[in-house]
Amino acid sequence: MGTQNRCWLLERRPRGMASAEDFRLASEPMPEPGDGEILVRTELLSCDPTQRGWMAGETYMPAVGLGEVMRGIAGGEVVVSRHPRFTVGQRVQGMLGWQEYATARVDEGGFLQPIPDGVSLETGMSVLGLTGLTAYFGLLDVGRAKAGETVLVSGAAGATGSVVGQIAKAIGCRVVGVAGGPEKCRYLSETLGFDAAIDYKSENLVSRLRVTCPNGIDVFFDNVGGVVLDAALLFLATRARVVICGAISGYNDETLPPGPKNYIRLLVQRGRMEGFNFLDYAHRTAEAIAVLSGWLREGRLKDRVDIVEGFENAPAALNRLFTGENQGKQLVRIAESLRS
Ligand SMILES: NC(=O)c1ccc[n+]([C@@H]2O[C@H](COP(=O)([O-])OP(=O)(O)OC[C@H]3O[C@@H](n4cnc5c(N)ncnc54)[C@H](OP(=O)(O)O)[C@@H]3O)[C@@H](O)[C@H]2O)c1
Repeated sequence: MGTQNRCWLLERRPRGMASAEDFRLASEPMPEPGDGEILVRTELLSCDPTQRGWMAGETYMPAVGLGEVMRGIAGGEVVVSRHPRFTVGQRVQGMLGWQEYATARVDEGGFLQPIPDGVSLETGMSVLGLTGLTAYFGLLDVGRAKAGETVLVSGAAGATGSVVGQIAKAIGCRVVGVAGGPEKCRYLSETLGFDAAIDYKSENLVSRLRVTCPNGIDVFFDNVGGVVLDAALLFLATRARVVICGAISGYNDETLPPGPKNYIRLLVQRGRMEGFNFLDYAHRTAEAIAVLSGWLREGRLKDRVDIVEGFENAPAALNRLFTGENQGKQLVRIAESLRS
C-alpha cells in the first residue's frame, strides 16, 4: 500500500453522453480509516446508469460535487478494519467511489454489504448485488408477479432486465423481452429461455407486442421509458402493474421527453404504475440473497458480467450502458485480487 490513491474526480457536468473530459484522473493522499470505519482496496467498479443522473444534478441523492470523487458502487477487500464486524481480508461492496482505496463508515446506513462466502466478487456485485436486488424486489414486491402471468421487460438483455426475466421464468410466468439488436434477442430466447424477444431497433414494437402478448401484459418491468413505455401501455391487461425501475432512454437528454401519451390505459385497465429504489428494501437484503443464491445453484439464474480492464477506462465503460455495447452487468477491473 503506497501513500497515494488514484481517483476519478468529477470535473464538470456532462451535456449529452458523458465524455472523458467530464472527469479528471487525480492522485490524492491515501485515506486513513477512523474509528468505526474500514479501508477497502478496490478491485471492481460497478457501472450503473443512475451515475449519469448523479453527475447531472440532484436525484434521490445529492449531485456529485465538482472536484469530488465520482460516486459509484465498488467492491474489493478490507485491508484495515476499525470496526468489530469487519475483518481484514473480508470482501465487501459499497458506495466506495471511483478510487483505488476507499474508507467506509460501517454504521452509516446506505449500501455496504459483505460478499457471500463461496461467491466470486463479480457475481456478488451482479446477481447477488444491486442488480439482483433490484430485479427481485421490483418484480416480486412492486410488480407482484405471479405464476401464469405475462411479464414484459425492457432493457431485457441488460444486467437488471436479464435477471428480471429469469426470475419471472423461475416463478412460472410467460416472459417477453425488449432489447436492441438480433444478437441480444437471440440470447434472450435461446440462452435464457424467454418466450419471445422483440428487437426495438428493427421491429415495429406495437405490432410485435400485439402478437407476443395476446392476453395483454400483467406486469411491465420498465428499464427504458420513452417510446417503449408508451407502446407497452397500449397492451396492459386488467389490473396490470407497471414497475418504473428506470428510464435510460432519456438519461442523456437535455430536455424532458413528452409524457407517456397512452397513460390513460391505466384507467381503462384499472392498472397501477409505481416507481421504486432498491435501497428501499435494504432491510430485506438477506432474504433476497438467500433466494437468488438458491436459483443460481439450481441453474435457474445465469449471471453474465461484462468486464472492461483498467482504471483509466472507467468513463468509457460507463458509456457502454448508453450505447448498448454492454453484454450483461458492466464492471471495470481496476486491480487483481490479493487472493490470486
Ligand atoms: N430503481 C432502482 O433501484 C434501480 C437500480 C438499478 C438499475 N436501475 C435502472 O435499471 C435500468 C437498467 O440498468 P442496468 O444497470 O441493468 O443497465 P443495463 O441494462 O445492463 O445497461 C443499460 C442498457 O440499456 C439499454 N439502452 C441504452 N440506451 C437505450 C435507449 N435509448 N433505448 C432503449 N434502451 C437503451 C441498452 O440495451 P439495448 O442494447 O437493449 O438498447 C443497454 O445495454 C436503468 O434504467 C437503471 O437506471 C434502477
